Amino acid sequence: MLCGVTIRIGFYGAGLISGIHTFFLGASGVDHRIVAVHDPDAERAAAWAARTGAQAVGEDELLDLVDAVYVCTWTAEHGRLVAKAAEAGKAVFCEKPLGFDAAEVEGMVDVVTRAGVTNQVGLVLRCYAPFRWVRQLLADERAGRPLGVVFRDDQFIPIQGYYASNWRADPTKAGRGTLLEHSIHDVDMLQWWLGPVGSVSATTREHHGLARIDDLCAARLDFTNGAAATLMSVWHDILERPSMRHVEIFTERMHAVIEDDFVGPVRWQFTGEPEQSLEGDALEAAVRAAGDDRANPATAFLTAVRDGTRAEPDLAAALPAHRLVDALYRSADDGGALVTLPD
Ligand SMILES: NC(=O)c1ccc[n+]([C@@H]2O[C@H](COP(=O)([O-])OP(=O)(O)OC[C@H]3O[C@@H](n4cnc5c(N)ncnc54)[C@H](O)[C@@H]3O)[C@@H](O)[C@H]2O)c1
Repeated sequence: MLCGVTIRIGFYGAGLISGIHTFFLGASGVDHRIVAVHDPDAERAAAWAARTGAQAVGEDELLDLVDAVYVCTWTAEHGRLVAKAAEAGKAVFCEKPLGFDAAEVEGMVDVVTRAGVTNQVGLVLRCYAPFRWVRQLLADERAGRPLGVVFRDDQFIPIQGYYASNWRADPTKAGRGTLLEHSIHDVDMLQWWLGPVGSVSATTREHHGLARIDDLCAARLDFTNGAAATLMSVWHDILERPSMRHVEIFTERMHAVIEDDFVGPVRWQFTGEPEQSLEGDALEAAVRAAGDDRANPATAFLTAVRDGTRAEPDLAAALPAHRLVDALYRSADDGGALVTLPD
């Protein structure tokens, strides 16, 4: 518990997502200070430190200066750094994907649980208003049972443009391609909305010629409640399309569409009622009015760190998505065979 104390924060990684987290932190409303950053790329670390007022320090030194650590490196380093921070008794926020596969993630969950530290994962779609709103629509009794979802997620392959790094082309750093690195968000959303998955099948492609870096995944997910979903995840070279999702949801008596994943619009219609649509601030206000104020992941994390409570979503909450991604790759690597998930 850190009541009445300014929470001191350090960052492993001085790249794109670290910068985005500083915006969330700035709007978090919880007393904190970004005091340290470490990145083996000294130039990046120095520039990031100058921008944020943090000190650029060594990997070990950082842990002496902070109460909480953001792990924002490429995926291969997540497990090691999470363990190091947790064993030093520091709260830890780790970016997704947590690791290369579910077995590695189980080890990470074990480490943070044994250390008893507050921990959170960067499954940020759970904070975006369109996805939170659809979760509420699905829980509305007017909707009836869920039937199916068509989920499309495309972005230009993130080894160019404003990404300013190319580790996502290297399986020793990224693990795999678009399904693991990007669409773990989508798989997480599907099970967050529809519950456990019974079986999956998938096809992947490597059109860019990068071994084990899938740039297309066409997946089918069968849920234990009878619903089914298709997911199309694509990395292309259309630089005008940075990261764009389009999702269509059918239940017995409702149809909903997410046109844009950040701000909407979301359109929906219940049987016998006119179609409605919300976007931007009005959408966020509607989600909040329904009792969900989880727009800022940093507020959730810092509040839990301050109060010594469990953060949401914690590392364990990412395990179902990692198990699903593993099963989808197993299917794709086996020519699209059906893979059944354990209960
Ligand atoms: N939640 C999201 O929507 C979202 C969006 C983008 C990236 N991410 C995730 O964030 C992570 C970083 O992605 P990015 O786009 O910021 O990459 P990036 O290339 O911009 O930055 C990564 C930085 O990590 C540094 N690094 C590597 N090993 C390190 C170590 N041991 N200690 C400290 N720094 C180290 C690199 O030098 C690099 O500067 C990845 O896991 C990625 O999947 C999540």
